[in-house]
Amino acid sequence: MAHSGEVRWTSPSNIALIKYWGKHGRQLPRNPSISFTLSNCVTDTTVNYLIDEKLDALNIDFYFEGKANQAFGSRIETFLSSITDHLPWLNTAQLKVESSNSFPHSSGIASSASAMSALAMCLVDINQTILGNPNLNMTLASELSRLGSGSASRSTIPLLGQWGKCEIEGSSDNFAIPYGNAIDQIFHTYHDDICIVSADEKSVSSSAGHSLMDKSVFAQQRYEQAGQRLYSLVEAMRKGDLETFGPIVEDEALTLHGLMLCSEPSFVLMEPNTISIINAIRAYREETGTPVYFTLDAGPNIHMLYPHAYADQIAKWSEQVIKPLCHNGRIIKDIVGNGPKKLK
Ligand code: DP6
Repeated sequence: MAHSGEVRWTSPSNIALIKYWGKHGRQLPRNPSISFTLSNCVTDTTVNYLIDEKLDALNIDFYFEGKANQAFGSRIETFLSSITDHLPWLNTAQLKVESSNSFPHSSGIASSASAMSALAMCLVDINQTILGNPNLNMTLASELSRLGSGSASRSTIPLLGQWGKCEIEGSSDNFAIPYGNAIDQIFHTYHDDICIVSADEKSVSSSAGHSLMDKSVFAQQRYEQAGQRLYSLVEAMRKGDLETFGPIVEDEALTLHGLMLCSEPSFVLMEPNTISIINAIRAYREETGTPVYFTLDAGPNIHMLYPHAYADQIAKWSEQVIKPLCHNGRIIKDIVGNGPKKLK
């Protein structure tokens, strides 16, 4: 029987508190990770589909922000061809995929997590229709997201997504699980102000970055450290203990960059203003006791993390001190959120 239709989903970006850095096999992590799911930085994806046994191959047209995009299209084609074991109907599918981001393309914000999870949500939705299932398979959604981009596995989870086998019951290398219900209320409205230090393309791709770990002399210690830190972090989050939470999060970001600094080849992804912002955050925290801490992705931009109660106070300070250190004064304000949403 042929099936046709259209599905539309948005899915957010996420910011890792314990970083996934190092992978093996079929997109499997070397260490467990955990992240806040964001709400404003999202990818909006529509998939128009025709599935018909008469079609003898997978055929995809991909449009990014209204324009045909060959480069993204071929990454998506490779991804879809790699998951026909999960979704056999992809072998006889004609798909038109249209995608756009809520955040500026050249903002330096990693888009693979939101993009791959939004696409995975559309695919799981279509799969549900084909199988005639009443429930959306969210475990499959996280697993397919992971096969597209490791960190994307966590974007399908509301609030706080944990990915990678560890001491947490139900944890898995194949998909992410929710951990938001176990943590203190203070984290349910946590803020992430993304301070755009540079909007340039990253000088190391994630996949190239992960493979640096294969040759790192610190690899084994790092993987163990990530597991231990994750355990301490979730304990602190359960208690709402920001004085333990914050330093672990900052140490994680600096460890990630430290590993890149001393990898072969070496990458310096921080910019001078990255350091200036780190120093400004630490000075402000020491002077005022405000619990604002930073983290970084594999790039120069600073994510400022703080509880909702401090939002007004931090906005005034950051307008004066942080904004001038950002590229075109750009700070993207985000807050933790509920994960993917169906639009059509
Ligand atoms: C530094 O998920 O982008 O953001 O699986 O190769 O697509 P691939 O990598 P990706 O790596 C993200 C690395 C990180 C840390 C994190 O988000 O955990």
